[in-house]
Amino acid sequence: MSTAHGKVEKNIGFMIILIILFVSVGGLVQIVPLFYMQSTTQPVEGLKPYDALSLAGRDVYVREGCYLCHSQMIRPFRAETERYGHYSVAGEFVYDRPFQWGSKRTGPDLHRVGGRYSDDWHRLHLLNPRMVVPESIMPGYPWLAENTVDGATVQERMQMLKNTYGHPYTDEEIAKAPETVAGKTEMDAVISYLQGLGKTIQTRR
Ligand code: HEC
Repeated sequence: MSTAHGKVEKNIGFMIILIILFVSVGGLVQIVPLFYMQSTTQPVEGLKPYDALSLAGRDVYVREGCYLCHSQMIRPFRAETERYGHYSVAGEFVYDRPFQWGSKRTGPDLHRVGGRYSDDWHRLHLLNPRMVVPESIMPGYPWLAENTVDGATVQERMQMLKNTYGHPYTDEEIAKAPETVAGKTEMDAVISYLQGLGKTIQTRR
């Protein structure tokens, strides 16, 4: 007996087209609403865009490839929230372009590392991780202590983030950016960035 189903199963080209159609519709139905949901597009309460120094630090973080070993996304599982604190939510990353979520964890997740250690701890750790964590396999980044942050670049970045993506920087913040980072090293910048991470939702003990 010839059925409609039989025709589909015997005609592989037609079946491929139908599969693509069904997977596309299914995918769109799941993904598109996320673009319009407030909880995924709006900043969580109290979230501020990165200040000049932290923004410079974030660029160093990306340049040095810290994301190759560190994720910044705490998954909503007990084992993760016990260790790192509140799981990450989308609204915490609206000023992260590009976001640093990642899935590769050679080292621990860093999303809520802000405030966990002192600035001095980070300074030693970045110079040579073995000074504070003897068994560490993380590489040292001693040159960060020698390179200074370029104020003009930071200022341009802030202006771009404001104009293109609407990050709420005031004109005053942008005008003062070079002054704020003057004389700061890349080390200061990365530490400022790390110390601010994940603090908007703070449930850690
Ligand atoms: C080759 C992999 C690797 C790279 C690249 C790397 N790390 Fe790490 N990181 C680790 C490992 C492993 C640990 C755990 C041991 C330790 O604390 O040193 C760690 C630990 C850390 C910690 C302490 C986290 C905690 O909760 O105890 C911080 C902060 C950190 N890394 C920052 C950075 C920064 C910033 C960079 C880029 C400049 C970076 N890491 C690059 C592997 C890496």
